[in-house]
Amino acid sequence: MESLDAERDDWLRQITAAADLDALERIRIAALGRSGAVTQLLKGLGALAPEERKARGAAVNKLKEQVEAALAEAKGRLEAASLEERLTRERVDVSLPVKAESEGRIHPISQTVDELIAIFGEMGFVVAEGPHIEDDFYNFTALNIPPEHPARQEQDTFYLMGAEGTRPEARKVLRTHTSPVQIRTMKAQKPPIRIIVPGRTFRSDHDATHSPMFHQVEGLVIEKNIHMGHLKGCLIEFCRTFFDIDDLPVRFRPSYFPFTEPSAEVDIGCSRAGGGLKIGAGADWLEILGSGMVHPKVLMNCGLDPAEYQGFAFGMGIERIAMLKYGIPDLRTFYDSDLRWLRHYGFSALDLPSLVTGAR
Ligand code: PHE
Repeated sequence: MESLDAERDDWLRQITAAADLDALERIRIAALGRSGAVTQLLKGLGALAPEERKARGAAVNKLKEQVEAALAEAKGRLEAASLEERLTRERVDVSLPVKAESEGRIHPISQTVDELIAIFGEMGFVVAEGPHIEDDFYNFTALNIPPEHPARQEQDTFYLMGAEGTRPEARKVLRTHTSPVQIRTMKAQKPPIRIIVPGRTFRSDHDATHSPMFHQVEGLVIEKNIHMGHLKGCLIEFCRTFFDIDDLPVRFRPSYFPFTEPSAEVDIGCSRAGGGLKIGAGADWLEILGSGMVHPKVLMNCGLDPAEYQGFAFGMGIERIAMLKYGIPDLRTFYDSDLRWLRHYGFSALDLPSLVTGAR
């Protein structure tokens, strides 16, 4: 019995002295492993006479329990210490300056899309998307632009060759505007609808202010009792927030689109005095977007009853508003992939778009 007490004290001393979890594990194996010392003591019991085995068995089991308890206690203590040590060693100094200037840049198109989403998101709009390769039906016909309509000429685009004998209406087109997503959304979900659709669009145009590929953002609101006042309020708010000018004059000028009635072009105030262009109160106007109340035929094409639901839509060119806001003179430079241009006009990834940002 005495030799057992000595043995226990020896294990407990070793366990207390273990410097780390590895050392502790070595002690555990030496004591309780398959051929560990304590395991051997337990195995030895079988060789004893029954009455001797009873007393000794109780003592050996007690020893085993004490060693186990000491191991568990030491394990908890060493794990806590090791976590504490890691927390100190791996601490990150979040106050260190970021090496932003050496990082990449956000393209002005992406920045502008983020700003649009921030502004319209605040008004309850969600982002919707649609395919670039569109059915003639969604791009034109469903938007009240039937096959022989002259509006098709204005939006001349790229047609994909169908198989021999494909009817013209069955051809696929690269979408000429983001408006087909109006149709897709109205067919797929019930009002209330409040979406914006930023995305790529295509037309066969190419000069200093037109590119065969460009970007638009579409907006669509369909609910009961939506009227022209909502359209005006929403777009005035947008223009003033985007250009960050509280008293920016906004003008609604009667216009025509096959898919809206009435239709209005939206102009913002500017001044061209002295040859430059300054956005804000001034003598001149600048057209920035098209809008209107969704045409009853378009609603019916989507299975909605115009007596029950009304709404408005708008569409604008993203390059155009980015050029105006950030003073970028030539549309073509957006797609030149010139790093010098991107360093100059691009944005830091850390400039999170706010309702009005643009600050660099
Ligand atoms: N789709 C039109 C265009 O590309 C813009 C527009 C959208 C006008 C929605 C009115 C309503 O010119």
